[in-house]
Amino acid sequence: MPRFTTVALVAGAALLVRRAVRSRMTTAPLWPMPALDEPVSGYGRGSTVPRKVLVTSRAEPADGVVELRLEGDGLPAWRPGAHIDLVLPSGLVRQYSLCGDPADPATYTVATRLIETGQGGRGGSREVHEQLHEGVEIEIRGPRNRFPLVDSPAYVFVAGGIGITPVLPMLRAAEAAGADWRLVYCGRSRATMPYLAEIEALGRAGDRVTVVAEDESGRPDLGFLADVPAGTPVYCCGPDGLMDAVTAALPDGVAPRLERFSAAATTGGTAFDVELRRTGRTVRVAADQSVLAAVREEVPGLMYSCRQGFCGTCRQRVLEGEIDHRDELLTDAERDDSMLICVSRCAGKRLVLDL
Ligand code: FES
Repeated sequence: MPRFTTVALVAGAALLVRRAVRSRMTTAPLWPMPALDEPVSGYGRGSTVPRKVLVTSRAEPADGVVELRLEGDGLPAWRPGAHIDLVLPSGLVRQYSLCGDPADPATYTVATRLIETGQGGRGGSREVHEQLHEGVEIEIRGPRNRFPLVDSPAYVFVAGGIGITPVLPMLRAAEAAGADWRLVYCGRSRATMPYLAEIEALGRAGDRVTVVAEDESGRPDLGFLADVPAGTPVYCCGPDGLMDAVTAALPDGVAPRLERFSAAATTGGTAFDVELRRTGRTVRVAADQSVLAAVREEVPGLMYSCRQGFCGTCRQRVLEGEIDHRDELLTDAERDDSMLICVSRCAGKRLVLDL
């Protein structure tokens, strides 16, 4: 559990109590809120305990992709599909799938594609590419796994570009287990597709791998998905368009298991009210505004990081109202009474937060 320290201050005529939060962040900002008995924000499970790791090697498995090996003591075990948070030197937090060997207890491996700001990047991948070199110590949290590989005699995998990273350990595990598996691996060109040689070698015996390089053969033909036998797990990670195409190609009633690298839409729909019960204020959340943005107008120091529903920093307890959860992080039990206010919204007209 994170350690919390409470410090009370009086500011002007209004009684504002600031809580100093000792959290996983490299800096510990203050925000105005009444003193609380229990922590209500942040993602406080053991899996988010921060730990230091050392970048021990760096490679380029494809054009525009950097692979980092991170070593540390006592790294938690993980299973295919898991990801970790990297706390970058600037304080940005970014999530990357573990793509190494789960049997190696001292090493985590991640791979990052450089996404320029003009192409939707927000600085995280550039920081990884420019600042994380051998010998650099960084903080990580996790691993967590919202994309677990279930036991099955057969699998279908579809990966797009850097979306291969959570899938790669799954392929190795499926092959080691003797499962019948098939992969469609898509990318702009072969040069941009990481781990291609290893993957083709892995699937060669059973002719299991179909490589679709856009500059050679255009978009993938996903028609075979209509014939996937019921009960066969279908895993997909890649751009939203690919995941939408996989979902549409599957027979009615068969849902793919998806890992998103970009956030779900956080705006749209209707406006609603959010009452901040402890602060005694109500804010209006516009249809094109996140709850986080609206609440920060009343509580400017409220902590957040990724703003994509990945890191859990902005988690808040919900006292009343129906939540429209749009994150992929919280468990079902956690969703009962809390939400990530950077992405999730209200399914009705009003939410009450314990803020
Ligand atoms: S800020 Fe990261 S989940 Fe909301």
